[in-house]
Amino acid sequence: MPASLRTTVLDTTGKASFDDIYERPDPREYYARMSELDYRIPELAKPHFQQLIEDHHAATGIAAPTVLDIGCSYGVNAALLRLDVGMKDLVASYGTQSTAELVARDREVLAEGDLLPNVRFLGMDASGPALKYAQDAGFLHGIVHADLESADPTEEQRALLASADLVISTGCVGYVTDATLLRVARAHGGKLPWMAHFVLRMFSFEPIAAQLATLGYRTELAPGVFQQRRFASDDEQSGVLNTLEANGIDTEGLESDGWLYAQLYLSRPSPTLSIEQDMH
Ligand SMILES: C[S@@+](CC[C@H](N)C(=O)[O-])C[C@H]1O[C@@H](n2cnc3c(N)ncnc32)[C@H](O)[C@@H]1O
Repeated sequence: MPASLRTTVLDTTGKASFDDIYERPDPREYYARMSELDYRIPELAKPHFQQLIEDHHAATGIAAPTVLDIGCSYGVNAALLRLDVGMKDLVASYGTQSTAELVARDREVLAEGDLLPNVRFLGMDASGPALKYAQDAGFLHGIVHADLESADPTEEQRALLASADLVISTGCVGYVTDATLLRVARAHGGKLPWMAHFVLRMFSFEPIAAQLATLGYRTELAPGVFQQRRFASDDEQSGVLNTLEANGIDTEGLESDGWLYAQLYLSRPSPTLSIEQDMH
């Protein structure tokens, strides 16, 4: 159905709300809905996350890092990084099997061809069923079921978060703010994990970067813009265009053409630990 004919429920940010499909026992509905909208940010993010893991290895010597995916949902970023597949292959692989069959199939595929056997993947999400699927299927080695927007992690959750060497996210900033990212960054108490967040242009990363700077991070905006997905409806598009234009962001040739766009923010510990920000 063309986006112009569809009605969508918008969340408080003006984006279409997909809350109902994050809570299913397996990813079928999530992937079906996302593929209708050509959701592609995890695939576009994949080479950047691969590069980040390599750069982190080169800089720290850590060959077997722990990667934490915030707002990981059904473990899509871990699945794409660990398997030689793109979004379309991944989505097409979820057919009419039962959830148990899908879990067993995913475990088998991973056992046959894990591209990153030395990397430990953790996922954090507010959705219990999505996390359970990602862990049962073997995409994630550990999970944190939490909403850290309004509460500190439990001691057990903090210890798991503290083991992260790298933190990644797609489609999550906006749902989470500096409140969550600071709790994650502080979890260790000494080590600051490297971070790479793909953030829709309608959300400002500056307040988060400013908070991270107080902990000793330097944030860079990577070159380029990345298609996230098509707008779900005309209402969503006009709301997002208004938000962007009110923030002085030129949407010509980008959101005005029917796609939501994200940018990549890289936050790494500043070598000098000075409070310096490339972004400002
Ligand atoms: C748009 S989905 C993105 C999922 C996945 N990263 C991807 O790109 O396909 C947003 C995810 O953020 C999760 N989420 C929303 N609010 C959250 C919060 N406060 N803390 C952690 N996760 C949250 C949702 O449950 C959902 O799985």
